[in-house]
Amino acid sequence: MPKVWTEKILDDPELYLIRIDDDGIKYFEATWDIPEGITYNAYLMKLEDAVVLFDMTKKEYTEEFMEALKSIVNPKEITHIIIHHTEPDHSGALPAVLEANGYRAQLIGTSFAKRFLEGFYGEKVVENFYTIKDGEEMNISGKTFRFITVPWLHWPDTMITYVVEDKLIFSCDAGGGYSIPPVIDDSDEKVIEEYLPHVTKYIVTVIGHYHKYIVQNIKKLKELGIVQEARMILPGHGLIWRKNPMRIFEHYEAVGAGKVKKGKVLVIYDSMYGFVERRMEIVLDELRKHGLNPVVYKFTDKEAPAVSDILGDVPDSEALIIGASTYEAEIHPRIRYALYEILDKANYEKPVLIVGAFGWAGVAGKKIETMITRSKFDHVDTVESRGWPTPEDEERLREGVRKLVRWIS
Ligand SMILES: Cc1cc2nc3c(=O)[nH]c(=O)nc-3n(C[C@H](O)[C@H](O)[C@H](O)COP(=O)(O)O)c2cc1C
Ligand SMILES: [Fe+2]
Ligand SMILES: [Fe+2]
Repeated sequence: MPKVWTEKILDDPELYLIRIDDDGIKYFEATWDIPEGITYNAYLMKLEDAVVLFDMTKKEYTEEFMEALKSIVNPKEITHIIIHHTEPDHSGALPAVLEANGYRAQLIGTSFAKRFLEGFYGEKVVENFYTIKDGEEMNISGKTFRFITVPWLHWPDTMITYVVEDKLIFSCDAGGGYSIPPVIDDSDEKVIEEYLPHVTKYIVTVIGHYHKYIVQNIKKLKELGIVQEARMILPGHGLIWRKNPMRIFEHYEAVGAGKVKKGKVLVIYDSMYGFVERRMEIVLDELRKHGLNPVVYKFTDKEAPAVSDILGDVPDSEALIIGASTYEAEIHPRIRYALYEILDKANYEKPVLIVGAFGWAGVAGKKIETMITRSKFDHVDTVESRGWPTPEDEERLREGVRKLVRWIS
């Protein structure tokens, strides 16, 4: 049973959070390991003659959601349902909500959202759907609701709502993060510090493929002036931002732009029998001699880190070092997959040093080099050799690291 939070977060306007803590999930989008879990946040605003629901929850938690909703309002009284994004982690409970509502409420969203909802849940759910245009304002019970499209944060359907008089931004996926914070908002600095790495991991794994749109969309919101003046940012996952609302979008911008933490070098490798590992010991020794801070992920017969965690460490790294063995004339399968995802989700302009080991004909290093050369990453050097590293191999490895160090200093 997930924990459900039903909290009043504002008196005027009367605003509630319904947060479902999904601690049963293992792989978000059936892919990303999240032992830390995730929350789905919906909001309900009661106005004088309107009741507005902002997003919902995943289908699996429909029953819990309906119970929480009914504790605040008679679902028949909901007049508007704002669909910021149709991914079923937010829209899954829509058919049940509409059923309980007697199909009275008007749905509000983008034209993409209408199309996607119809595809997911059938024609009936979109019978009363109002399609917004970017920047359009709607008066609901005396308040101005401004709808702003933020395409690719996370899907083409995605928009946010700005309630002008109250300076509230309902941002759905944008501003969200993984994990189940012990509180609902940004009031505790310790909670924020623990939470932000989960935000980074969320951004890269979920929105990373579109990371240039993060920067573009936040720029757009800043130009409209709403980020600077926002009183609260209310995302669809994780913490609500009301002490310092700017902070979450600043974090998003930093991740989107790949802003680095000085000295951080991400080191990823596989080693079946210790040959790549020996090379990486040399590499790590040389890195530390230059005062750099390596963050290491290794795949061995004893451990296999989650690729989702590796992805979360890419944006603020100054450089990457990838070590791989050749495996059946290919890159070792674990590194192949990790690299494929890095290039898709975390494709940044950062220097990369490649280290390879092989038995009879080296393939991994060259293949990685081709992939890196075709990506945004910059290729620094490839040091690949047979079996146990010789003293000459060691010198080439150290020189490779020195090249990398020169690149970033
Ligand atoms: C299943 C398997 C497949 C391999 N395939 C190749 C190959 O196609 N070409 C090659 O040169 N070496 C191949 N090797 C040898 C390794 O690349 C070589 O031993 C390397 O040094 C392994 O480093 P590691 O023990 O750190 O993983 C293979 C080894 C294994 C276990
Ligand atoms: Fe999404
Ligand atoms: Fe989401």
